[in-house]
Amino acid sequence: MDQRTSSDQRAAFSPVRLDTGRPETHRPSASSTDGRSTDTAASRPSAPPKRSTDDVVFDVDDVSVHYGSAPALVNVSLTIQRRKITAFIGPSGCGKSTFIRCFNRTNDLIPNARVQGRIHYHNQDLYAKDVDPVEVRRRIGMVFQKPNPFPKSIYDNLTFGPKVNRMKVDYDEVVETSLRRAALWDEVKGKLKQNAYSLSGGQQQRLCIARALTVDPEVILMDEPCSALDPIATAHIEDLMRELERDYTIIIVTHNMQQAARVSDRTAFFTAEVESENDDRRFGRLVEIDDTSKIFSNPSDRRTEDYISGRFG
Ligand SMILES: Nc1ncnc2c1ncn2[C@@H]1O[C@H](COP(=O)(O)OP(=O)(O)OP(=O)(O)O)[C@@H](O)[C@H]1O
Ligand SMILES: [Mg+2]
Repeated sequence: MDQRTSSDQRAAFSPVRLDTGRPETHRPSASSTDGRSTDTAASRPSAPPKRSTDDVVFDVDDVSVHYGSAPALVNVSLTIQRRKITAFIGPSGCGKSTFIRCFNRTNDLIPNARVQGRIHYHNQDLYAKDVDPVEVRRRIGMVFQKPNPFPKSIYDNLTFGPKVNRMKVDYDEVVETSLRRAALWDEVKGKLKQNAYSLSGGQQQRLCIARALTVDPEVILMDEPCSALDPIATAHIEDLMRELERDYTIIIVTHNMQQAARVSDRTAFFTAEVESENDDRRFGRLVEIDDTSKIFSNPSDRRTEDYISGRFG
């Protein structure tokens, strides 16, 4: 089956009730021969598009995040384009991690975090009461700064998600497909029963990417996925991202300007500035988002230029 068609069909999740859990029709369905799911019409959006075009996966409108009463990020509006890599860059503390967590509702898991504003995922309010955050996190997977495989075998790391999600799939096939997609198969195919901790850091990170792919997501969020890796392992992950871009929408947070310039199609620059002379609190703000080539050659805002040329941050 053509993966693009499959992925298009999976565009949005239907409303699911938080109190009753996911109905059967919203569970990941049986895998096709390529290891990706073949969704049914039941899981396709029923309402006509309201706000976004087909190329917009996320439409973020005036989002602010507070921790307790302290604002971390304010008034962010942008769109995330389908099957593009979008990089979030900016100085430490400007809210990049806070913001990327908004896209799969992992801020919900932080007790004092409060998200305001609207994020539409394929025209559907991601934060609507009837949207199941667990289903959100399956559709929108995440890879963290430090590789975090489970203390289990390579094989068990990769079957964990499909088992938890009760996917009716051939586990051997999921393991092989996800490892191939994460460009790790050739290195580990002879030792699938070995503990994941026996892999190198770069291999562990690719395993975590493979693990994220096993539950058939549409979007992959990566928060500084290479910061713990050496240049060779970093190059592997960057190559992999370019491969994955053909089928997935990717958002990456990175402190590495060259990496943002190398791998991303669009770049969003955030900063955290003191708001007024009488108030030394810093709020993260989006300065601009544009094509990566424009951000790195001719940004619209002076602050972006200063940051990418190393004059601040
Ligand atoms: N769990 C939390 N509780 C309270 N405040 C938090 C929490 N997480 C982040 N913050 C605050 O929110 C602001 C933004 O933090 P965040 O981690 O999102 O920044 P960042 O841009 O990812 O920084 P870095 O580049 O260092 O990773 C900071 O002031 C930080 O102290
Ligand atoms: Mg961060």
